[in-house]
Amino acid sequence: MAKIVLGMVASHGPLLGTPPELWTGRVQADINNPALEFRGKQYNFTQLTELRAPENFGPQIELPVRQKRFDACQKAIAELERVFAEVKPDVVVMLGNDQQEIMGDDNQPAVMVYYGERLDNVPFSDEQKKLLGPGVELAEPNHHPKVAKTYPGHPALGLHLIEKMMEQNFDVAVSSVMPERKQSRLTGIPHAFGFYYQRVMGDNAPPCVPVFTNTFYPPNRPGGRRCYDMGVALAKAIQDWDKDLRVAILGSGGMTHFVVDEKFDRDFLEAFADRDPTKLLAFPDNYYRSGNSELKNWIPTKSAMDSVGLKMTLVDYQPLYRSIAGTGSGMGFAYWR
Ligand SMILES: [Fe+2]
Repeated sequence: MAKIVLGMVASHGPLLGTPPELWTGRVQADINNPALEFRGKQYNFTQLTELRAPENFGPQIELPVRQKRFDACQKAIAELERVFAEVKPDVVVMLGNDQQEIMGDDNQPAVMVYYGERLDNVPFSDEQKKLLGPGVELAEPNHHPKVAKTYPGHPALGLHLIEKMMEQNFDVAVSSVMPERKQSRLTGIPHAFGFYYQRVMGDNAPPCVPVFTNTFYPPNRPGGRRCYDMGVALAKAIQDWDKDLRVAILGSGGMTHFVVDEKFDRDFLEAFADRDPTKLLAFPDNYYRSGNSELKNWIPTKSAMDSVGLKMTLVDYQPLYRSIAGTGSGMGFAYWR
């Protein structure tokens, strides 16, 4: 029978692939955003700067601090890469989200399992580059290669997971051909998935079944409890697989962004490490808005790991602030083995 031997959660995001002296390029995106999400409410950049003035972000956006935190994140990602190479799983189930890169208003499944044969990681075309937010193209190597690459999917495991999830009352959407969205800023796998190929797994990545959860977009975002239960069901489905293969579950995204909420990140991490999920599932759902919502790819990873009894190691957490409004990204990295 298949065995789950490894779990990982990792933040992704442009700042991890942008030299700290250029982070200010992303500040323009914050200023352009009239609905910066912070603890369940929305603010524009000026309002947020006023609200958070007492937190005094000035010293935390000095270049030496930014550099130190950036370097710590690179070290953490290198550690995930090392652990992945050491464990060398045969197959990967990757939990991520589509940020309207390949799906859109015409069809937005709450959860979708991809059971196709191939995963293409494709660089932005010149046309697509025109649609990108500030600073995104600069950080492209963090998610996408210079030249398109194709990696193996795992149709047999994908079909098995679909069947077993349906049996456990998860009526998942399915796709055997990677969807493509007209006039998208991306073709091929979304950045949440590309990150693991570019930064953790490398070119000899094992076959992968991506599971897409719609964390971002109303009106069909699964709640924390549903995501937690989904991880338990996925672990059971994997262990029911009649193949003698070693499986990893990789969760992508988070922590708080595009407004860093260090308190929530640290409270989340504390609850996340607790085998009892009561505290984890008690955070208000409106804390999981915008980029924070990607933490819903962490929750099923955790519940799957807890259900098979693997031990969690928190590699690092770094709040990467880029402006006096406290915008930026909270970056967290952990693994189970
Ligand atoms: Fe993302």
